[in-house]
Amino acid sequence: MPDTITIIDDRTGKKVTVPIQGGTIPASAVRELDPQLFIYDPAYMQTAACKSAITFLDGDAGILRYRGYPIEQLAEKSTYLEVAYLLLNGELPTKDQLPKWTHDVTHHTFIHENMRKRFVDGFHYDAHPMGMFVSSLAALGTFYNDAKDIELKESRDKQILRLIAKTPTLAAMAYRFSVGLPFVYPNNDLSFPANFLNMMWKVGEYEVDPRLERAMDVLFILHADHEQNCGTTAMRVTGSSHADPYSSAAAAASALYGPLHGGANEAVVRMLEEIGSVENVPAFIADVKSGKGGRLMGFGHRVYKNYDPRAKIIKKTAYEVFEVTGKNPLLDVALKLEESALSDPYFVDRKLYPNVDFYSGLIYQALGFPVAMFTVLFAIPRTAGWLAHWQELLIDKEQKISRPRQWYTGSETRDYVPMYER
Ligand code: CMC
Repeated sequence: MPDTITIIDDRTGKKVTVPIQGGTIPASAVRELDPQLFIYDPAYMQTAACKSAITFLDGDAGILRYRGYPIEQLAEKSTYLEVAYLLLNGELPTKDQLPKWTHDVTHHTFIHENMRKRFVDGFHYDAHPMGMFVSSLAALGTFYNDAKDIELKESRDKQILRLIAKTPTLAAMAYRFSVGLPFVYPNNDLSFPANFLNMMWKVGEYEVDPRLERAMDVLFILHADHEQNCGTTAMRVTGSSHADPYSSAAAAASALYGPLHGGANEAVVRMLEEIGSVENVPAFIADVKSGKGGRLMGFGHRVYKNYDPRAKIIKKTAYEVFEVTGKNPLLDVALKLEESALSDPYFVDRKLYPNVDFYSGLIYQALGFPVAMFTVLFAIPRTAGWLAHWQELLIDKEQKISRPRQWYTGSETRDYVPMYER
């Protein structure tokens, strides 16, 4: 069977045959038939906008791999910093590379004093931490004149290091500001997740529980990349105009902020709180099905039509965290919701399964994070993924500035009507 496809333009009889490669056909086939003919594909449901060697995802089989390594193995054996290196460089770091990378990240965690004193202090007292995080990311770029030198590899590497190292600092700063606590400076003696937890929670004596440090690291690993999701697409689209990586990451974080994307973990906990108890689950499910109750947050995914492999690991991690913190009382509601949805034809027929956000919020809450911080917690590790894609985009010779076309549905040309005739 030939690995080609032939498209015939029935208007002209013109036909074009193109290869099927990597499960895609080139859109240039359509251009060849008629340069004024475009593919109408809202939300890019059937469009591959790039080649990528970073993350492999099979939504039907529930498979996720970073650079070929199954997410289950990385979550069990690796660390977030090692995974960030893997995503960015394509290979796991060697025995010599890992200490150097860890040292470099650890020694870039501080931010300019003016960021805190002048920029962050300017926010309103009840500003949402994710809004603060998004704008701080963009503002951070203004402190580095070399941020715009995106064509130089040394400069790109420098910005990547800064962004990965400083996002936990920005995140913790946003939180401490929102509760009126003094800022805790990074501690270079701690691991990446322990330093973050220390910046978040230290008031007087504070020692990070190693089990919670590990849980935080596992959550960071699971959120580090997810191929061409909405946020990463925003990163690529913005980066394609050769904007600096701080501005591009701010665009990606803005996309992540929405409740259909990274904001879903916040929405899940709010939903569970609203349901309140196990007895109310059947009525809630009935409302979702009838369209009265909104969506079952934390369920469904554009690509996964099976159990999200990250959700499985997160569910297990939740139990490990609850051993330290005590069980989150909302867990029973979540378990009942999952059980009910997975045996209900409405959800089964639509292949709606728990996604990464269904259980993560319960862990974050048990760790003491307020719901408003949840999306920020997603954004910290996703920075590694965004930057891996940004870097890949910039060295890809086939890429250009992103510029989709449209199907114009507005008025035909018409003459301006003066005010006295309207
Ligand atoms: N609860 C109830 N019904 C749903 C849900 C849900 N969570 N998700 C999808 N559906 C229904 C939807 O109403 C539609 O039904 P019908 O065919 O009768 O009109 C059908 O399933 C297909 O839905 P869709 O909106 O066309 O699917 P999509 O691929 O555009 O949406 C999604 C994917 C994630 C936006 C959606 O499933 C959703 O809104 N889920 C809840 C929000 C959520 O948990 N988001 C986190 C996503 S994972 C983390 C991340 O990557 O950001």
